[in-house]
Amino acid sequence: MSKVKVAPSILSADFANMAEAVKNLKDWNADWVHCDVMDGVYVPNITFGMPMVKALRKYSDMFFDVHLMITEPEKYVGEFCDCGADMVTFHPEASKDALKAIEIIKSKGKLCGVVLNADQPFAVIEPYLDKVDMVLIMTVQAGFGGQSFRRDRLEMAKKVKAIKDEKGYDYHIQLDGGVCPDNIAECVEAGANVVVAGSAVFKAVNPSKAVNAMQIEC
Ligand code: DX5
Ligand code: ZN
Repeated sequence: MSKVKVAPSILSADFANMAEAVKNLKDWNADWVHCDVMDGVYVPNITFGMPMVKALRKYSDMFFDVHLMITEPEKYVGEFCDCGADMVTFHPEASKDALKAIEIIKSKGKLCGVVLNADQPFAVIEPYLDKVDMVLIMTVQAGFGGQSFRRDRLEMAKKVKAIKDEKGYDYHIQLDGGVCPDNIAECVEAGANVVVAGSAVFKAVNPSKAVNAMQIEC
């Protein structure tokens, strides 16, 4: 048995104190640092890009899990790897050449993931399941932190877990959006072994307690 990896999203941290935010994540015993990159085109919100990842790399030795919500990710994945990402995850429907994006990330020696947004059909990620290190199932529509957890998305996580078991694939199953200590058991039951949590960690009265409450057996 292993424990759920908790990847707090710095989208919910104080943007004027990001270095402190990643240092805190280490103190709070979080597993990964989740970086939500939004371009204002694929999603109606803009956050930060490569310079932020590069700058934060100097303040943390933790695993950087970079979630790209951008159009044509194949143009940028290489640079995100060079800036210090350990995992780069992208939305295939936003790319012109998803295989190329995967190839570039792997050629940089980094881990690679594909994301299924809440409004997308399973077919969007299906061709890549044998090639990736992680499948991220959105439990909100990508674009903003602080939305409510969509329980209906758990069926998709279960499907991806069933395929993983049936075919012997090796990918992590990550859920992102509205995850908190109250729904972590359902996430695990649906097959997740990595969860993203923005508000549930950064807005918690006791963040390290919130992290710990989600690191349950899976
Ligand atoms: C949404 C992002 C998520 C989200 C997580 O587009 O990908 O990472 O901000 O934040 P919470 O946990 O607050 O939903
Ligand atoms: Zn995310």
